[in-house]
Amino acid sequence: MKQIFKFLSIFLIISGMYFSNTGCKREGCTDSKATNYDSKAKKDDGSCIYDTVKPITYEDKYIGSEACKSCHTTIYDNFIKSGHPYKLNKVSGSQPVIPYRTQTTPTPAGYSFTDGTITYMIGGYGWKARFIDNKGYIVTQLAGSQYNLVAGTQSVYESAVAPGTKKYDCGECHTTGWKSVADGGSRQDGLEGMEGEFFTGGIHCEACHGKGNKHANTKLAGDITLNKDASLCGQCHTRNSDYSIAAKDGFSQHHEQYDEWLTSPHKTNSIGCNDCHDPHSSVLNDAVAPGEGVKKECTDCHSSTTYNANKHTGNTSIECVTCHMPYAGKSAKSYSKYKADVSSHIAKINTDTVITYFSTDGKLANVDGKGLPLTFVCYQCHKDENGEGGSYSQKTMLQLSTKATGFHQ
Ligand code: HEC
Ligand code: HEC
Ligand code: HEC
Ligand code: HEC
Ligand code: HEC
Ligand code: HEC
Ligand code: HEC
Ligand code: HEC
Repeated sequence: MKQIFKFLSIFLIISGMYFSNTGCKREGCTDSKATNYDSKAKKDDGSCIYDTVKPITYEDKYIGSEACKSCHTTIYDNFIKSGHPYKLNKVSGSQPVIPYRTQTTPTPAGYSFTDGTITYMIGGYGWKARFIDNKGYIVTQLAGSQYNLVAGTQSVYESAVAPGTKKYDCGECHTTGWKSVADGGSRQDGLEGMEGEFFTGGIHCEACHGKGNKHANTKLAGDITLNKDASLCGQCHTRNSDYSIAAKDGFSQHHEQYDEWLTSPHKTNSIGCNDCHDPHSSVLNDAVAPGEGVKKECTDCHSSTTYNANKHTGNTSIECVTCHMPYAGKSAKSYSKYKADVSSHIAKINTDTVITYFSTDGKLANVDGKGLPLTFVCYQCHKDENGEGGSYSQKTMLQLSTKATGFHQ
């Protein structure tokens, strides 16, 4: 009897355990993504343990154009022959090397590339060069404080500003990674005239695409900035904060391509900078540099039959840009009252005889919004009534207007 009782009670205990196991749900970790996942568990008891793989984080920093070269070789090769990277050149014992320039660049009196008196050369690729002294100030007032490349002449930068006082605060548009002293930046190279610090002089890949360290590691498109809008170029190719076109001495000032474009028919029709330009290739040296700085010509979009440029007796081969993008802006030098050295981006031509293009104080251009006056378009070649302008036949504004109206018809 005792034996039977003992056997029974053991049976009851075992079966009880059995029933309690199947009757209630088995508890454990039910998440298959966890390391202790229990495939038999029916009810989650909150015990799951996860393998926390840390996502690799990349420092958000500049790495320099050289680091992009291995994967974007063609773009790099085009870019390194264009003007952007040569905007601010560190001087280390000799004249900085600039593509397509073999000539000697003369320096201001008392300054030299070889004796440490010049620390940086500003520009020197397209129009002109200026110089930074060994305390970080831009050289002013002295003869030769500006060198004009195409004309091959020296001139004076800021005649009223004493040397050793003009701080270098141009970095926003001339360097990559500029941080001004006002924004907490240091003074580049510890020079007192430097109003900020930068990662590198010149407009490099990351000036337009942002810090590239993460992207260069992941190779993902989403890890780099790509802004195709004209407003990107407008960060630097502008002057007045309200985008009006600043003028001086009868010309638009330079770096106003964006401001001029805003008043052009191309802006109205959403044809932006990058519809005509390849931002990685040189425009100024388009004929010799690799790539196509101007990737779309006027006649790629406007029929050359409709807009026949061959309407001139005695001159049958004028290019569209000669009349529609005349040198109505000035950077380094003007060659006549009607021709300086920066191509206009206004495109439209106004055939009126009376000019209302400049504001009455002469400080703004294209204020009437009618486009380029015939003075810039035609007097680059023809002489005006006073004999000023180009070298071809003298023409009155009325004669010009008569020929210009309906020019292509
Ligand atoms: C290790 C190779 C590698 C390096 C280094 C590299 N890239 Fe790239 N980059 C790529 C690849 C691959 C793509 C194409 C990604 C895609 O389309 O998914 C790309 C695409 C891009 C794009 C286009 C993004 C888009 O939205 O279409 C830009 C801009 C770019 N890279 C800029 C840079 C810059 C600037 C640097 C240097 C700071 C750089 N890359 C360095 C491999 C690289
Ligand atoms: C708002 C942006 C901006 C600022 C600020 C700016 N620049 Fe420039 N600069 C440009 C652009 C864009 C160009 C080239 C296009 C042009 O001149 O039309 C240029 C061209 C130049 C050139 C000729 C470069 C060459 O290769 O021929 C020199 C020299 C120059 N700037 C000096 C200065 C100095 C000095 C300062 C500061 C006192 C300054 N700039 C401030 C945008 C700027
Ligand atoms: C002046 C600004 C600017 C600079 C400097 C610049 N880019 Fe670009 N980049 C652009 C713009 C704008 C586009 C878009 C062009 C378009 O498709 O209209 C672009 C497009 C690209 C693309 C994707 C499209 C393509 O053409 O394959 C890559 C990759 C790229 N850039 C890499 C670079 C590298 C690498 C450098 C330096 C060697 C560089 N960029 C320098 C403005 C710039
Ligand atoms: C961060 C400022 C900055 C941005 C953004 C910028 N530029 Fe420039 N650009 C300059 C400066 C400064 C120069 C003068 C460089 C020199 O001549 O040394 C210049 C020169 C040029 C030149 C003449 C040089 C050559 O090689 O032909 C062209 C064309 C040009 N830029 C087009 C563009 C276009 C198109 C964009 C937009 C995709 C753009 N830039 C964006 C500052 C900038
Ligand atoms: C990528 C295409 C494209 C290129 C390249 C281009 N244009 Fe245009 N342009 C247009 C479009 C679109 C319009 C507006 C429609 C029209 O009038 O044909 C326009 C309008 C104009 C107008 C005003 C037309 C009017 O009836 O008032 C002028 C002038 C003009 N373009 C001149 C030029 C010149 C000069 C060039 C070369 C420097 C040029 N365009 C290059 C697309 C382009
Ligand atoms: C000798 C100077 C000259 C040349 C070269 C020239 N144009 Fe014009 N173009 C003009 C003048 C002037 C007007 C203004 C006509 C008017 O308003 O009646 C004009 C007007 C235009 C217009 C505006 C539409 C119109 O009929 O008013 C377009 C678009 C245009 N030209 C495109 C071109 C293209 C494309 C080329 C090159 C194949 C070219 N032009 C070459 C002087 C020129
Ligand atoms: C309709 C086409 C077109 C558009 C849009 C356009 N450009 Fe240009 N750009 C040209 C052509 C063509 C030249 C060369 C002119 C020449 O050969 O004299 C040029 C020249 C330049 C130059 C060299 C300056 C000089 O004196 O030659 C700069 C800088 C420039 N463009 C910047 C820009 C910027 C920034 C934008 C946008 C705000 C822009 N461009 C929009 C066609 C265009
Ligand atoms: C690239 C130089 C150049 C430009 C720009 C230019 N012309 Fe001419 N033009 C000439 C030459 C060359 C002749 C023939 C020789 C002469 O008259 O001295 C000529 C002849 C003329 C003639 C007389 C012959 C004819 O075909 O009727 C008129 C009128 C004329 N141009 C008007 C204009 C007008 C209007 C403009 C501006 C919209 C203009 N030209 C722009 C070079 C130019």
